[in-house]
Amino acid sequence: MSIISKDISKAIQLLTEEHVVAIPTETVYGLAGNIYSEKAIKAIFETKKRPFFNPLIVHIPSIDTLSTIVEYIPEKAKLLAKAFWPGPITLVLKKKAIIPDLITGGKDTVAVRVPNHSTTLELLRKLDFPLAAPSANPFSSISPTTAQHVESYFKDTIKMVLDGGACTSGIESTIIGFENDEPIIYRLGSTAIEAIEAVVGKIEIKNSITESQKVETQETPDAPGMLARHYAPKTKTVLTENITETINLYTNQRIGILVFNSDFENPLIETQIILSKNGNLEEAASKLYDALHQLDTFDLDIIIAEKFPDYGLGKSINDRLLRATK
Ligand code: TXA
Ligand code: MG
Repeated sequence: MSIISKDISKAIQLLTEEHVVAIPTETVYGLAGNIYSEKAIKAIFETKKRPFFNPLIVHIPSIDTLSTIVEYIPEKAKLLAKAFWPGPITLVLKKKAIIPDLITGGKDTVAVRVPNHSTTLELLRKLDFPLAAPSANPFSSISPTTAQHVESYFKDTIKMVLDGGACTSGIESTIIGFENDEPIIYRLGSTAIEAIEAVVGKIEIKNSITESQKVETQETPDAPGMLARHYAPKTKTVLTENITETINLYTNQRIGILVFNSDFENPLIETQIILSKNGNLEEAASKLYDALHQLDTFDLDIIIAEKFPDYGLGKSINDRLLRATK
């Protein structure tokens, strides 16, 4: 029997009984549990096979709840929360003592956001505790953007996926930390850097990966989940600025290509996914993970992905594609 259901009351009951429930958000599906339940939080880490040092994001119903979670809110954090919540920005702030160490990997900061999804906002409003929710995928694999992706990962190990349809943004939230009250991007994501800079001015990006950095995996990045190899399909994946040239390097192999907007006619290509025929970066981001999930089912030898334009969500897409290459 399927574990996918639209029944919010059932999700409330299971979460209140300290079980783990997968929930929809605008970015990706999350594997959620009561932040105050040690049993639920341990089950999240176990289900994902995620190391305990890698902290979780706390999901709250509105900006008003923020002060119950964090000790102190810098001015620019307030501006960002007001501008983007509900929405795909996560703020890393000094935690209150009430937040368990298990959530934060022992750090004195906590990551928090208000997700922009009507089903999950209703759920959060009805619960009397916030939800910790990492992306609902096994450690290092592709994040899920549909209830079906989650079911195929975890069908025997969780009781329910709350169905909220396909995620509209499709890549994870942008994570912003603060050093001396100044914002710094720890993870590129669904909110474009240009939109963030329009609110708080020029902002530095830490832990973004470039080709050269990728060789040496960072041991302790600021957002500990940001290891160089992450978000990876099972199929070998390469990223290129020149699809045709790269195809010619793999002539005897079963090739799948993942491209932005143009159609490549080449008899060597077995499967091709175009992410946005109109060249729209938002659309491309929303379809990225589903495309990687699909390409993984074709028994290909190699996925050749096209490098995206280096602005707006193109930057975030490139970040994920680079992490997907092995
Ligand atoms: O869009 C999203 O953010 C999704 C949905 C479900 O909300 N969640 C998500 O969670 O992507 P997860 O666990 O896959 O990624 C959370 C990231 C990790 O890289 C983690 O290291 C970082 O947030 N993080 C959490 N708490 C942190 C903290 N106190 N300081 C720095 N980084 C933190
Ligand atoms: Mg994740």
